[in-house]
Amino acid sequence: MSEKTLQGKRIVLCVTGSIAAYKAVSLLRTLIGEGAEVSVVMTSSATQFVAPLTFEVLSGRPVLQRLFADSQPLPHLRATEEADLILVAPATANCLAKCALGLADDLLSTLFVAARCPIVMAPAMDGEMWDHPALAAHTRTLRERGIVVLEPEEGPLASGLLGKGRLPAEHVMMEAVRSRLALRRDWSGQRVLVSAGPTREPIDAVRFITNASSGKMGYAMAEAAAQRGAEVLLVSGPTALPSPPNVTRIPVLTAEEMYQELDSRFAWATVLVMTAAVGDFRPRYPSSAKAKKHEWAGEPLELERTPDILQSLSRKRTHQVLVGFAAESEDLLANGRIKLHQKNLDLLVMNRITGPQSAFGNETNEVILLPRHGTPVEVERLPKRLLADRILDTVQEHSGISAFSRSREPNEGIRRIQ
Ligand code: C5P
Repeated sequence: MSEKTLQGKRIVLCVTGSIAAYKAVSLLRTLIGEGAEVSVVMTSSATQFVAPLTFEVLSGRPVLQRLFADSQPLPHLRATEEADLILVAPATANCLAKCALGLADDLLSTLFVAARCPIVMAPAMDGEMWDHPALAAHTRTLRERGIVVLEPEEGPLASGLLGKGRLPAEHVMMEAVRSRLALRRDWSGQRVLVSAGPTREPIDAVRFITNASSGKMGYAMAEAAAQRGAEVLLVSGPTALPSPPNVTRIPVLTAEEMYQELDSRFAWATVLVMTAAVGDFRPRYPSSAKAKKHEWAGEPLELERTPDILQSLSRKRTHQVLVGFAAESEDLLANGRIKLHQKNLDLLVMNRITGPQSAFGNETNEVILLPRHGTPVEVERLPKRLLADRILDTVQEHSGISAFSRSREPNEGIRRIQ
């Protein structure tokens, strides 16, 4: 049996007054099942949805509800002193607003202001509330302070309407808890070269060929590696994303520029994570002026292949670990295996690019991890930042680099494929 992933961790589970409060009951059982010691805090509106007794029986501890309870003076101070992590699930619009503003007018909000441990919040509310600009501002503020605010899920809401406001799936909350608790410097000493985003191949001075990559996955990889202690260089095609903290960004436009920048830094790197959606073709004769439309006589645009960066660099590898990404619409495994060997990779991350949940532009992604040695593993849909940690874990597991230490059993949300 695999080791319990939250053994001995002290978690404060805060439940606020959303209809999704009933899902916190199952979440509590899962946390306990993973070995966590959980204390539950409820707001008074949460108790309208679920009786405190339910949480009390399952957690084996009294539910904390009031700031000035006779039996436990100043319960917020004891609870925060002892906690390894605070998980707010579900977090209502009111709760997010109070926490962003630093109000402290009940037990939960006071505990929040007093807390010095990591905090994960899992919002649940009506879609229109989530879309309100005030909520967006509060969420931004909380995230800027290092609090993990998960994105709610899309789907049917309690109002009967469809929208984005459902409590994130339990495996997503669990992954966020594990990832935040495991925040460790286990990549320190590593030098990670990440490529991200699309490339832009000019047709003339103003027109170009590009693709739909948003760069989110590559930026998430860079952020995760930097947070885990690596030195990170991010060679990025044009995106609208801010640079992740402690990451040096090198902006590029074309596949050729990306190749030059990566090639000149390849010897420095210990790991290359090639997340970029490099354009495969470029116009053979780009014009430096803007072509006039009335001068175009209908001749076809002649294209040529761009360099395959990963393949070229893999031929020059000395010690580097190589991670590639592949976007496939069919025969994922068979095509992936060919690519893994063609490009001589240690790990290939395979995305699905078809359907409404395609990897392109989405906040979440569902992938198959195909290591060079070992069994392919299907990872359930996760926010890209959490998936990035999972990919780094898999690189550690399979790379054989001794500086890496394995510190987490991958289990939840993972299915091994035969
Ligand atoms: O062959 P395919 O384009 O599907 O391979 C995808 C992987 O190869 C990605 O990691 C991508 O960043 C990389 N690639 C590259 N140079 C190209 C095209 C793709 O390095 N010209």
